[in-house]
Amino acid sequence: MTSVVEAPPGSRVQLRLLAGTHDGRLDSHLAQHGRLPVLDAAQVIGLARDAGLTGRGGAGFPVWRKLSAVAAAGRPPVVIANGAEGEPASGKDRALLTYAPNLVLDGLQLAALGAQSAVLYVPAAAHRPLQTLIDARRRAGLDRVPVRLVAAPDAFVAGEETAAAAAVAGRGAVPADKLVRITESGPGGSPTLVQNVETLAHLAMIARYGPGWFRAAGTADEPGTFLATISGAVASPGVVEAGYGVALGDLISAAGGATSALSAVLVGGYHGGWVPAAAALPVSRAALTAYGASPGAGVIVALPRHACGLMETARIAGYLADQAAGQCGPCVNGLPRLASTLTDLAHRRARPGLPAEVDRLARLVTGRGACRHPDGTARLILSAMHAFEPDVAAHLAGRCLAAGASR
Ligand SMILES: Cc1cc2nc3c(=O)[nH]c(=O)nc-3n(C[C@H](O)[C@H](O)[C@H](O)COP(=O)(O)O)c2cc1C
Ligand code: SF4
Repeated sequence: MTSVVEAPPGSRVQLRLLAGTHDGRLDSHLAQHGRLPVLDAAQVIGLARDAGLTGRGGAGFPVWRKLSAVAAAGRPPVVIANGAEGEPASGKDRALLTYAPNLVLDGLQLAALGAQSAVLYVPAAAHRPLQTLIDARRRAGLDRVPVRLVAAPDAFVAGEETAAAAAVAGRGAVPADKLVRITESGPGGSPTLVQNVETLAHLAMIARYGPGWFRAAGTADEPGTFLATISGAVASPGVVEAGYGVALGDLISAAGGATSALSAVLVGGYHGGWVPAAAALPVSRAALTAYGASPGAGVIVALPRHACGLMETARIAGYLADQAAGQCGPCVNGLPRLASTLTDLAHRRARPGLPAEVDRLARLVTGRGACRHPDGTARLILSAMHAFEPDVAAHLAGRCLAAGASR
């Protein structure tokens, strides 16, 4: 899903990265935004800090801290723009790389000041137009640090930062133990910076328009806009841009509105959480924490009332268990058991201790993997047990509350 949804007039969504012509061309980009100002690495760190820019790849980590850590390593880093987007319900990175790839490449140059190499890590299907653009930018003298494309495999964990760094070093795209932070020493021993492609595009905008402009969108604590991929029971699934704190209902309206009554909304993707389909709920970390969710990488999936939330979560849990890299105990043993226990509950193969077993397994796998895949999976499942509590009780009694289910 790469279409950008044109929001209705008066809508609360706010286009910045996605404003303009959407043709991805270098001449259109330069006509719209001009060249990047000349900055040094310290200035870039200061701008990211003053803007309050956080990562758009899921974890929401402050960008200036990562830039500072890499600079403090004192050796030329490898800088990776992460466009792997292994999350099946997300399409915003693909949309950004189609409609505004020059902003990503500008941001990569800013993050890569003083770097030995800059890498754009994206699925192979996107390489041809991006290579043409990289060549055009080199001919125009725009990129001081040469940019190399590396193929991201189509796998959920391929976008995890140590998996991305391993792929760039020529190894398999699987996560590694973080005994040493990759910002200090990644594969090959070089300090390594991994930033989501959307994060880098925001950095390119901040360099041009300033931290004050960036902060004019979003909330005081969570400034700026984010790209949301909206799917499920909406009329026009696609990618929308809005400031943090936007009401959930405004995002759903921007995607053409709900096509039927909703029972819940999945926010933050397959590692996110289920929240009530409350139109006024702000999409911000502060407001979503209460539901064990966060905006994550901006995934919004609207669940219609005729679908069963437990069934949908069991489907996702099965997918996530299959996608584990198979290196650590919680993924090898824990996630398949968690998924099959939830599947039993979803299919009303009830045993009285089933919810307690789901809870126990979810807590058991958390914090025990080399990467956060088990944690994210457990978080989603725990949020489902909470959000669909009446459904859990009904399933234990052999019934399903979803309007479309056979009772
Ligand atoms: C299982 C897993 C999959 C991930 N997949 C992606 C991805 O596809 N793209 C991405 O940018 N970040 C992904 N991340 C987050 C990265 O590890 C990393 O935090 C991010 O790329 C850093 O960029 P940011 O700080 O700009 O968000 C994933 C994390 C986990 C645990
Ligand atoms: S926790 Fe799971 S996904 Fe992460 S490295 Fe270990 S086996 Fe792979």
